[in-house]
Amino acid sequence: MSTTIHEIAPADAPMALLLLADPSERKVRAYLPAARCFAALVDGSIAGVCAVVPRAPGSHELMNIAVDPARQQRGIGTQLLTHVIDMYRREGAARLEVGTGTFGYQLAFYQRHGLRVFQIDRDFFLRNYDEAIIEDGIQHRDMLRLAIDYRQEG
Ligand SMILES: CC(C)(COP(=O)(O)OP(=O)(O)OC[C@H]1O[C@@H](n2cnc3c(N)ncnc32)[C@H](O)[C@@H]1OP(=O)(O)O)[C@@H](O)C(=O)NCCC(=O)NCCS
Repeated sequence: MSTTIHEIAPADAPMALLLLADPSERKVRAYLPAARCFAALVDGSIAGVCAVVPRAPGSHELMNIAVDPARQQRGIGTQLLTHVIDMYRREGAARLEVGTGTFGYQLAFYQRHGLRVFQIDRDFFLRNYDEAIIEDGIQHRDMLRLAIDYRQEG
């Protein structure tokens, strides 16, 4: 299995994958046109996708990262996230942010790659989604905001 990461046009990012990370198609369609999208190609097909939008000058937000469920837990998500983090560092970005739930393996996934909590957005998932988002039998309510501050790296 050979995995390569490529930047793709937002229109080529598979909606079925994006909806794994963000169940609101309306929200995904709202941020996608302004996003830079990256795809993990495995043997020529898209196995993973990541979308990043510009925020304040020098600051970017990772809005979505998802891997095809049949191909998860094989390192593809790690390769995609590492590629994106390193690419923004190389390009001279100041900061990369992400919002995620307050529990679950995704939180460890981001922290393992250097993203640190800087804020909690209470009731974010209650305010922004019509349907309850349940994981491990627990409803997601609050969002943790994490960031890498490239300028503070040793
Ligand atoms: C998050 C995601 C992109 C990671 O992709 P992946 O290809 O599975 O990632 P990796 O194989 O590189 O694994 C990364 C870590 O997550 C863990 N992990 C991945 N899927 C997991 C699962 N379903 N349950 C528990 N741990 C899981 C892996 O074990 C690994 O941990 P390790 O580094 O200690 O071994 C993928 O699981 C996914 O698409 N999830 C659904 C969408 C989502 O939640 N996106 C993030 C929104 S905040």
